[in-house]
Amino acid sequence: MADGNTLWHGRFEGDASQALRELNDSLPFDRRMYREDIAGSRAHAEMLCDVGLLEASELRDILEALEVVEAEIAEGTFQWAQSDEDIHTAVERRATEITSSAAKIHTGRSRNDQVANDVRLVALSEIDSLAEVLGALIKCLLLRAEEAHENGWYLPGYTHLQRAQPVGLAHHLAAYCWMLMRDLERLQEARSRADVSVLGAGALAGTALPIDPHLVAEKLGFSSVFNNSLDAVSDRDFVADLLYSLSVVGVHLSRLGEEICLWASSEFNFVELDDAFSTGSSMMPQKKNPDIAELARGKAGRLVGNLTGFLATQKGLPLTYNKDLQEDKEPMFDSCDTVRLTALALTGMIETLKFNSTSMKDSADSPYAAATDLADFLVEKGMPFRTAHSVVAGLVRESLESDGDLMALVEEHEDLGPEAGELLLPGIGSRRNSHGGAGSEAVAGQLEALRTRVGNLR
Ligand code: ARG
Repeated sequence: MADGNTLWHGRFEGDASQALRELNDSLPFDRRMYREDIAGSRAHAEMLCDVGLLEASELRDILEALEVVEAEIAEGTFQWAQSDEDIHTAVERRATEITSSAAKIHTGRSRNDQVANDVRLVALSEIDSLAEVLGALIKCLLLRAEEAHENGWYLPGYTHLQRAQPVGLAHHLAAYCWMLMRDLERLQEARSRADVSVLGAGALAGTALPIDPHLVAEKLGFSSVFNNSLDAVSDRDFVADLLYSLSVVGVHLSRLGEEICLWASSEFNFVELDDAFSTGSSMMPQKKNPDIAELARGKAGRLVGNLTGFLATQKGLPLTYNKDLQEDKEPMFDSCDTVRLTALALTGMIETLKFNSTSMKDSADSPYAAATDLADFLVEKGMPFRTAHSVVAGLVRESLESDGDLMALVEEHEDLGPEAGELLLPGIGSRRNSHGGAGSEAVAGQLEALRTRVGNLR
């Protein structure tokens, strides 16, 4: 480890305590932003040259030095110094060792606008990569839904975890596609919040030097530029927005995970997990455990925790930069990594899932599942729904109490009869074709709409 002085040592006598360093240094986690930090320095230096604050030769030296620094960090040959508090310090320290011109790199810049810039750049690239991973999960669910639709697989739809009405497996899987599509939209909204350039805000108040923040924004590819330097260095709303979007993703993945845990149990027996995506028990040889699905369920807790923790961190912070804001990075990195890993594992698990369509069908084929259809039949004949509900409820009770045959009761009933009896026959019942409904025609339309949306994903 190389030695070195902190950026602020000139004002101090003696060394910082070990405890201060350990608490204060963010290098252990912010070195992950080295590419973004160097990109920011490049753009800033180019702008300094454009406005006449750097000579062309100085700029060339600085750009060359930054390239060396980037390569050293990427290759793992970078010598971190004890004085490297954070990635900004480390990059600048090393660049200055390579060329004395780099001592000018911090002109008109502070770590306060620098760190906000870096975190924004990380957020943008994380969102792009997460959108791809989630897009792949949506595609996988859609493929499985299409397969289920072609095969006519169906299962009981549940409310209160009680069997309610049979629904196509395609309809059920597609529901998760729509949830995840909304998640992608939410992520894009968070992206647009992050897509604002803040370099040029300085420590908090801008600078008297003739810098040009618009030029920097353009070089870094940001869509817009900050309007208020105080806001620029202290705004981490975009981090909270990202953490919220990822919490909602987490909640959705958690629900999907729980569904698969239930389906994989012997009680349901709706799916079998592929060996590559399930685990065994160290003691009970017969077991196959849905660990991925359970972790998808469990990880939501930490995603929500990252969000609420970071909101609490920001609450009550006076303007402008406060060191509390250094707490933005760990939850953000952790939530991005957690969602990425969970979504990738879930995708593999769903791709390889074996659906036990016979078990699903057997569970769905209860004549009682057609109770609502019977009521609708009476409604079509002109009976008010409340009356129809009570007529059918009476028949269901009678059948349950007498261990009787619901079909016979329906066929004998004066308002129902044999035509209504057909509604009790096993099958998905393709009648519920209202918009977005479970009937197979409606589902075919829905899958078509999903295919178009998925096709439009970047
Ligand atoms: N490591 C710091 C952070 O993550 C960088 C900014 C430091 N600014 C300062 N004024 N000490 O927030």
